[in-house]
Amino acid sequence: MQVERRQHVMELFQNRFGSEPQLWARAPGRVDLMGSHTDYNLGYVLTLPISRDTWMAVRKNGSRTVNLHAANLNEDDCFSLDAIEKTSIKKWSNYIRGVASVLQAEGLQTDGFDAVIHSTVPLESGLSSSAALECVTAVVFRELGGWQMAPRAMATLCQRAENQFVGVNCGILDQFSSCLGEAECALLLDCSDLSTRAVRIASGISVVICNTMSPRKLSGSEYTLRRADCEQGAALLGVKSLCEMTVEGLAARRSILPEQVARRCEFIVAESARAESLARALQAGDRDSVARFCAESFAGARDLYEITSASMATMRKAMQEAPGVIGSRQAGAGFGGCMVAFVETARTDDFRAAVVESYLTASGLRPDVYQVEAVTGAALFVP
Ligand code: GLA
Repeated sequence: MQVERRQHVMELFQNRFGSEPQLWARAPGRVDLMGSHTDYNLGYVLTLPISRDTWMAVRKNGSRTVNLHAANLNEDDCFSLDAIEKTSIKKWSNYIRGVASVLQAEGLQTDGFDAVIHSTVPLESGLSSSAALECVTAVVFRELGGWQMAPRAMATLCQRAENQFVGVNCGILDQFSSCLGEAECALLLDCSDLSTRAVRIASGISVVICNTMSPRKLSGSEYTLRRADCEQGAALLGVKSLCEMTVEGLAARRSILPEQVARRCEFIVAESARAESLARALQAGDRDSVARFCAESFAGARDLYEITSASMATMRKAMQEAPGVIGSRQAGAGFGGCMVAFVETARTDDFRAAVVESYLTASGLRPDVYQVEAVTGAALFVP
């Protein structure tokens, strides 16, 4: 698989640019195991940088131009590092342009290069294909420019590129996961200070992604509305961010909030606490608790935060009824896209077959179902 992928990218590079790449960089996608929308409320999120990643095969070209070929889309783009502008035509290119632009604003050297990009992170499915593209870009500029930057700082700059250049008001979760991954570990991230704890999932429990294959239509506009509800809640409660509240503290003051805002706050505060609890349960292999936390998270996402969709409900039913399931829930921003299940490792094949069959029957869509492993964060590599 890896050999074929390398061969494919190498051939594309040689055909486009008439030479061989001088370096290869990669950055992973991620799946959140618990902690939907807690990142911008400065709470906890349990995240897994996954074995689906974005590669960039690169050669410095001695000019001020970046020449790109996106293999998955069969599209080319180029831009000048001396006049970086947003493009409305090749939207994927904005993640690369954005990173170049924030690096320049930091006074860091950026050099022109030729690159082929290839990704196994499904696009626009809630597994952070955009963050993977940003983070792999930052690694490439760092290497070519000969400067140093720690992964945390890199994640923050990539988030800034997305917030300020691309114009998506995301939290830190995606870029952080892509830059700071550790092999074989999930990361419990405290978004209030960006500290992390490595969480080793007990052996015998596997993480399986189930892609509903339904597009995330509302995710942009609804995401903004959820953030606004949370900000209103925090302001009324007199805290800087919602995750300063405890579950009990919020319950005592719930009545001062408008009903919808109260429901949003209730979800976030409980979800952040669940991220910590799930980390403990997964480490201990406590399957009953894993099942309970996942059920609570999905119910809250559906009834309180209202980020689920009909296809997600259909998928949850398929996952819950499949053999070997321990627990399952939403992932990413919600509104379609991918979901995540914890499955007995010995039953993952049976689980996959059952989910594919029952979801296909119920929805008419063939889902993509696959196991993922935890991987290291964005870096150079030898393919
Ligand atoms: C998207 C955003 C993240 C985070 C999640 C929801 O992936 O980019 O910052 O808010 O949604 O948890």
